[in-house]
Amino acid sequence: MSEPTVVTVTGAGGQIGYSLLFRIASGQLLGPDRPVVLRLLEIPQGLGAAEGTALELQDCAFPLLAGVEATTEMLRAFDGVDVALLVGARPRGPGMERADLLAANGGIFAPQGAAIGAGAADDVRVLVVGNPANTNALITQSAAAGVPAERFTALTRLDHNRAVAQLAAKTGAAVSDIDGVVIWGNHSATQVPDLSHATVGGRPALELVDEEWIADEFIPRVAKRGAEIIAVRGSSSAASAAAAAIDHVHDWVNGTATPGRPERWTSVALPSEGWYGVPEGLVSSFPARSVDGRWEVVEGLDIAPVWQRRIDASVAELEEERAAVGELGLLG
Ligand code: NAI
Repeated sequence: MSEPTVVTVTGAGGQIGYSLLFRIASGQLLGPDRPVVLRLLEIPQGLGAAEGTALELQDCAFPLLAGVEATTEMLRAFDGVDVALLVGARPRGPGMERADLLAANGGIFAPQGAAIGAGAADDVRVLVVGNPANTNALITQSAAAGVPAERFTALTRLDHNRAVAQLAAKTGAAVSDIDGVVIWGNHSATQVPDLSHATVGGRPALELVDEEWIADEFIPRVAKRGAEIIAVRGSSSAASAAAAAIDHVHDWVNGTATPGRPERWTSVALPSEGWYGVPEGLVSSFPARSVDGRWEVVEGLDIAPVWQRRIDASVAELEEERAAVGELGLLG
C-alpha cells in the first residue's frame, strides 16, 4: 500500500464534518488502497466535538485510516497536507452586513492560506466549502505564498449535483443518463445552473424541457435549494454537501472520465485564467474535466445571450466581493 495521504478538514466538529469524515476514512475520497491520515482543525469551542468524532472514527476500525488527530493549531493541521477541505467558516449572524461577513471570514481564510503556503505538500489540493466559498477560496489562494493558483478550488459540485437530480426528476431519466450540465459563477443565489449543453440519454435537454420551466422553476429551485432544505429539514444541508465534497476531490484525484463517458465533465469553481471572459483570478464556477490530476476547463462552448446575461450577473457579484475584500486588505 502507498504512503498515507494527509487530509486536513477544518470545521471538523460541525455538521458537514460529521458526514464527511467517515466517508474519507472509509476510502471514498481517494479510492481503494489509498490510506489516509486525518487532521481535524477546530476552534476551541468545536474541539470537543472533533475529538469525539475522532474517537468514533477509531471505533470504526477502518482499514485505510492510518491516523487521526484533532487540533486547534493551524500550522500543525496543515503541515504536509495533501488535501485540505476548508469547511469551517463564520456564518452570518443577526444584523451582520455582507462586509462584516467577508471580513470575519477573511480573518479565518487568510491565516489558513498562509499556513498552507508554509507547510503543505507541493501538490496540495485545496477545496473551500465554507461560505462565501468562492471568495473565501480567493482569500486563501492569495495568502498561500508559492502555491500555484490552480491548486485552489471552491465547491459548486453540490449545485451541479442538485441540477442533475432536478433534470433527471423532470424528464424521468436516470441520473446516469445526464451529461453536460454546467454551474457558472458564484455559489450563491446568483449562480447559473445551465442546461443549454446538457443531454438526457444523448438527446439535448432543451428538446425535452422548455425555457419557461428552466427560468421559473429549475434555476430558482437549484439556486435556493439550501433554503428549501433548511425549511423542510429544520437544519442546513450537511450530508449532501459532504457527498459533493467527496465527489469533487475524488474526481480531481482520479479523473472525470468514467467507462463509456470519456468526455464527462463536472462543475468546479477555480481561479479564472480569463475563460469565457471571466476576469482573471476570480474564483468562478466553470465546466471542467479532471485529466492527470489537474482540472481543465472545457472551453469553446457557445453561450446564448439569455445565459450570458445570467452569467454576467453572477460574475459581477464575484467582482463586488473581490473589491470588498480587497478594500479590507485581505488579498495579499
Ligand atoms: P457548522 O456550524 O455545523 O460547523 C462549522 C464548524 O466550523 C464548527 O464546528 C465551528 O467550530 C468550526 N469553525 C469555525 N471557525 C473555524 C476556524 N477558524 N477553524 C476551524 N474550524 C472553525 O456548519 P456546517 O453545516 O458544517 O457548514 C460549514 C460551512 O459550509 C458553512 O459556511 C456553510 O455555509 C457551508 N456550506 C457550503 C456549501 C457549498 O455547497 N459550498 C453547502 C453547505 C454548506
